[in-house]
Amino acid sequence: MNFKKNILCIGAGYVGGPTMAMIASKCPLYKVTVVDINKDKIREWNSDNLPIYEPGLDELVKKIRDKNLFFSTETDKHIREADIIFVSVNTPTKTFGQGAGKAADLQYWEKTARQILANSTGSKIIVEKSTLPVRAAEAMDRILNTKNDNIHLEVVSNPEFLSEGTAIADLENPDRVLIGAKQTPEGISAGKEIVEIYSHWVPRERIVESNVWSSELSKLTANAFLAQRISSINSISALCEKTEADIDEVGHAIGMDSRIGPKFLKASVGFGGSCFKKDILNLVYISQSYGLTEVAEYWESVVNLNEWQERRFIQNMVSNMFNTIAGKKIALFGFAFKSNTGDTRDSPAIYIARGLAEEKAQITISDPEALANAKKDLSDMEENIIYERDPYKAAEGAHAIAVLTEWDLYRNLDYKRIMRSMVQPAFIFDGRNILDHKKLFDLGFNVFAVGKAPMKQF
Ligand code: UDX
Ligand code: UDX
Repeated sequence: MNFKKNILCIGAGYVGGPTMAMIASKCPLYKVTVVDINKDKIREWNSDNLPIYEPGLDELVKKIRDKNLFFSTETDKHIREADIIFVSVNTPTKTFGQGAGKAADLQYWEKTARQILANSTGSKIIVEKSTLPVRAAEAMDRILNTKNDNIHLEVVSNPEFLSEGTAIADLENPDRVLIGAKQTPEGISAGKEIVEIYSHWVPRERIVESNVWSSELSKLTANAFLAQRISSINSISALCEKTEADIDEVGHAIGMDSRIGPKFLKASVGFGGSCFKKDILNLVYISQSYGLTEVAEYWESVVNLNEWQERRFIQNMVSNMFNTIAGKKIALFGFAFKSNTGDTRDSPAIYIARGLAEEKAQITISDPEALANAKKDLSDMEENIIYERDPYKAAEGAHAIAVLTEWDLYRNLDYKRIMRSMVQPAFIFDGRNILDHKKLFDLGFNVFAVGKAPMKQF
């Protein structure tokens, strides 16, 4: 079959895989290929067991794989054939040198840019999908256009706003698609080509065009604002625990103000995920580098409050369990950073598990999708941790349960049965406020939820 265009995506991760599956399914005349340096990952994308869990992804991929969606490790060959290249490689926080702990580590991006340049025999559009610091496109542009021939590689920014766990629904029906292009004739025309892809299924009024820097900064700002809402509500949760105010009631009441809105006001053990912390620190670093100290401090406090909230959760457990959890079995219900994903990157559960282990607790971790990742995250402490998919078995003989991910399955367990299998007095710490606290209390549990008055039996 002759395809209208060849689209390539470099990086078959949480963003690249689902995004390309959606583009391929909506644009049957485009050939979409996804490559990755990780051969195992590509093998999994070509198998019955996809490397990531995301509701709806399996069916989508299996419907179009090897029709117009391909997964491959032959990056050089596919670069040569591509008209449009999405780059979706990871851009973690730098762990070394200048900007360590805050700035984005762009080594993979730069390496990829050089690989594109080395293998390009014709002009192409390069799309930044990875979240990059503001003005990164400028640096990439320089690298990509160092050859003095007739090849032109135009960089367009098209940040991803999908949220894990609802990635397919978000891609199918996005609030907006943002396309940032240089305001030159080549830039404008490249931007239009990317608009054309999304126009296959996204209403035109939801496709927003801007200059490149606005697009890059909008991604960082969107995540910073979302995370800020969680830190704001979590700060109030601490106040609720000291008074008789209830954080869900406060969240509901303020969210009804149409200027505030109801979303992202759920108090929790803390936010996690691969983006929020990384993107805010990135914003902090950029602000510092422009000498904007107050701006940097303002945004850094969102991350600091999140870390405090995680710490507070552990302290609360220890102090309420008679100031010692040494030798006590504690069951963690959930390890993923949110429900409906197996992703554990920056999950509060990592921090909580480590904190509890420092207090010498015996930890059993349960999660329907994230145990494999949990084992990797905690590989250095194998002897202290048991992994148990079945929550009933995980809770057997435990002194306490801590709910760390809002999986639906934890809402409807038989807590009477669980209570009977635990050491008394039994404690439950609901870090996601998903359980029926009154019911648990009536069953005899000591119940501690985020932003709510404790319910103690003694
Ligand atoms: C990535 C970025 O981390 C994030 O900044 C951006 O917002 C979206 O894209 P994600 O898809 O979640 O997020 O990352 P990950 O699942 O780690 O996937 C990146 C993939 O790129 C990995 O599979 C990795 O093997 C691959 N990669 C990395 C390459 O193919 N080449 C490289 O040089 C580096
Ligand atoms: C986020 C952004 O939502 C998305 O637009 C961007 O592209 C990538 O980063 P994601 O990290 O997948 O997506 O998850 P998100 O749903 O934003 O949740 C992040 C964290 O915040 C999770 O740990 C979640 O449990 C927590 N959260 C969310 C709360 O604690 N309270 C809330 O009210 C909402």
